[in-house]
Amino acid sequence: MTQIAASPGPDGPRRRALITGASEGLGRVFATKLAHAGYRCVAVARNEARLRELIDEMPVGDHEWMVADLGTTDGLERCATRLSEEHFDLLVNNAGFSRFGLFHESTAAEQEQMLDVDCRAVLLLAHAFLAVARPGDALINLSSVTSFLPTPIQPTYCAAKAFIASLSESLWYQQRSRDVYVQGLCPGATRTRFIERAGDVRMKFLLDAISQSPEAVVDASLRALARRRRPIVVPGLRNRLLVLATKLLPRRALVLASGRAGDLA
Ligand SMILES: NC(=O)c1ccc[n+]([C@@H]2O[C@H](COP(=O)([O-])OP(=O)(O)OC[C@H]3O[C@@H](n4cnc5c(N)ncnc54)[C@H](OP(=O)(O)O)[C@@H]3O)[C@@H](O)[C@H]2O)c1
Repeated sequence: MTQIAASPGPDGPRRRALITGASEGLGRVFATKLAHAGYRCVAVARNEARLRELIDEMPVGDHEWMVADLGTTDGLERCATRLSEEHFDLLVNNAGFSRFGLFHESTAAEQEQMLDVDCRAVLLLAHAFLAVARPGDALINLSSVTSFLPTPIQPTYCAAKAFIASLSESLWYQQRSRDVYVQGLCPGATRTRFIERAGDVRMKFLLDAISQSPEAVVDASLRALARRRRPIVVPGLRNRLLVLATKLLPRRALVLASGRAGDLA
């Protein structure tokens, strides 16, 4: 398991982490691994039953769950208030979702909801956390390889993740002088229920064949967290080669290929 310091000393207070979207998928793996590394975790999501189950499975250690819909003003404000009023050593800004389909056939409200959770919540929670951050603290924002190469089947999601990657890089630079580490984590397809929830089961079969385990993604993020050097973390060789290709090939050809792959799936 990746070694990440969770306590400043044998008798020092244990570090605290708040993880959004912790009821399943990558957030759940983050919460579990951080708890095993000695962090006291606050796990945030909407599904209370799954959060309770997660806390029961964690090593004993004063963990908490918080039911909050980060797409609502109330849920977002309650979470931001906790980050402002209590000290957390680490925020994992992970909650997010996508909806596959044609932009013009969806409702504007559906697209706006995606922006609320994938961008607005990430931005406001990052702000609440960084406003009171102390030297040594860290922020991990979940972006995606789609921030380098849009997959046209999910236009708003890709644009949101590009926003998160860019925001994370600039914050990484700004926060260095405070010794606060910011990471933009850019996974490729990962074996969680994300794609199924996005609404395309056929796509899931294709992506399952090339996807990484959530454990491998979280391990890559936590290794980079231990080193505190890289603003953008792309887990897995296949994903790093894809990102390299986006820098070498013409943009039009890339978007055409990515769009056609989505159409065929
Ligand atoms: N899986 C992939 O292929 C992939 C690739 C690149 C990036 N990512 C990113 O990684 C992050 C985690 O994705 P995942 O694969 O773990 O997806 P997932 O398995 O669908 O889990 C998403 C998590 O976000 C929470 N969530 C969704 N909407 C929420 C809301 N309105 N308020 C609070 N929590 C909410 C869900 O909990 P509740 O339903 O209980 O609220 C769940 O815990 C996302 O930001 C995603 O964009 C995923």
